[in-house]
Amino acid sequence: MPREISLELEARETEWAFAPDRSLRGFGFNGSVPGPLIEAETGDTLRVRLTNSLPQPTTIHWHGLRVPADMDGTAPVQPCDAFEYVFVVPDAATFWYHSHVNETEQLERGLYGAFVARGPGEPRLDGERVLLLDDLKLDPGGELAPFGDDHELHEGREGDVLLVNGRREPELEIAAGQVERWRVVNAANTRFARLSIGGRPFSILGTDGGLVPAPVETSEILLTPGERADLAVGPFAEGEVLEIETLPYDRGRGEPRRDSFATLRVGPAAPSQAELPGSLRQIEPLAGAEEAPTRTISMKALMHGGHDQRDEPVPVGALQLWDLVNETSQDHPFHLHGFFFQVVAENGEPPALLAWKDTVNVPRKQQVRIAWLPDDRPGEWMYHCHILEHHAMGMMARFEVVP
Ligand code: C2O
Ligand code: CU
Repeated sequence: MPREISLELEARETEWAFAPDRSLRGFGFNGSVPGPLIEAETGDTLRVRLTNSLPQPTTIHWHGLRVPADMDGTAPVQPCDAFEYVFVVPDAATFWYHSHVNETEQLERGLYGAFVARGPGEPRLDGERVLLLDDLKLDPGGELAPFGDDHELHEGREGDVLLVNGRREPELEIAAGQVERWRVVNAANTRFARLSIGGRPFSILGTDGGLVPAPVETSEILLTPGERADLAVGPFAEGEVLEIETLPYDRGRGEPRRDSFATLRVGPAAPSQAELPGSLRQIEPLAGAEEAPTRTISMKALMHGGHDQRDEPVPVGALQLWDLVNETSQDHPFHLHGFFFQVVAENGEPPALLAWKDTVNVPRKQQVRIAWLPDDRPGEWMYHCHILEHHAMGMMARFEVVP
């Protein structure tokens, strides 16, 4: 039975203790960083009342959720004002919600949270946890470094303090012998996470838009800002200590290096009921790699186009094949609001994995073709680079979905 879930979220200033001995002036939903975990099932109706108690406008964007255009959370809610978001949860996946005003500062200060939507036929593992990855850029005095100089807007904001669920390098524990579902979200402004769990194998179960056709075994996964992955992690042996880290990745800026997000300790054994099915979900391909694109989006033009860019309208029901071309010298994670897409080609080649996505990295000097079908949710939508500083610089465009 679909339920109705009502929630109050207040955006307010908060003392954010990101480490046992360290805190800073954060912004938190209900005073916590990250904000409360929202859990729902497909078909549930969500009613979220946002009250803005910050001294600046804010809003909630439901990243990845296929909500109606006027619930997408791009219209600011003024200080002392409130807004009620109402929508039905259409898909099962790991989503997240975050401010969509002055994001470079508001997300760095903590205005984000995870949103887990479950559906029928989820794989049964021994446990589940959400890991929101982030980082903080501090000045030498330990306060947040100032925001948004030209250098930072161009390079993006990356900090040296790595966070999981709002805490600096926490210690996590898993029972020996068990396999858990980890829902990982990259909530950082700019930092790319090339995630490794002590170099050990794990399975990818899902991406931005939910389960993939079958588990994919690997020992690392690249998550750019905005992207999510569901992983099956374990089993390990009692006493093992593994580093959850990001391996060096060259996004065209900065020195690629290895950094630790957290430590995973393997505790005493517990019985396992985990069953990883050989197939998880059927996904029909929207298009083949050889079909001609309907639109080309140049990352370079987008980057230099400024804040008032408008792209051509998109008619409901008309298959979209967009070539995302990155002529610049750095990678850009491209995010489409409100709709899932499939990657149909990477530099002309079919991709390794068929999956539903809402954010995809377009590596420098490369191109990615995506396919998506605008379902019947007309209105104003947007796409942008999810490096928040690039978005702030105007690396975005609005377009209309027309009936
Ligand atoms: Cu998560 Cu417009 O963004
Ligand atoms: Cu970018």
